[in-house]
Amino acid sequence: MLYDCLRGECGLCRVRVRAVEGVLDHRDVFLSERQRAATTEMCVCVSRVAGTRVEIDC
Ligand code: FES
Repeated sequence: MLYDCLRGECGLCRVRVRAVEGVLDHRDVFLSERQRAATTEMCVCVSRVAGTRVEIDC
């Protein structure tokens, strides 16, 4: 997996979210509010899921 900043700033660790059981807890500053609301991608270096499962494309 590509990464650089590990602080949620660069977006290199961004992955596509296929499915989520729970709520994505976006802790990055890279994604826009619209991208966050779509719940189709996340920056995995800092973001988490509050729930039981998330399926991603790597
Ligand atoms: S490594 Fe930069 S946002 Fe995740």
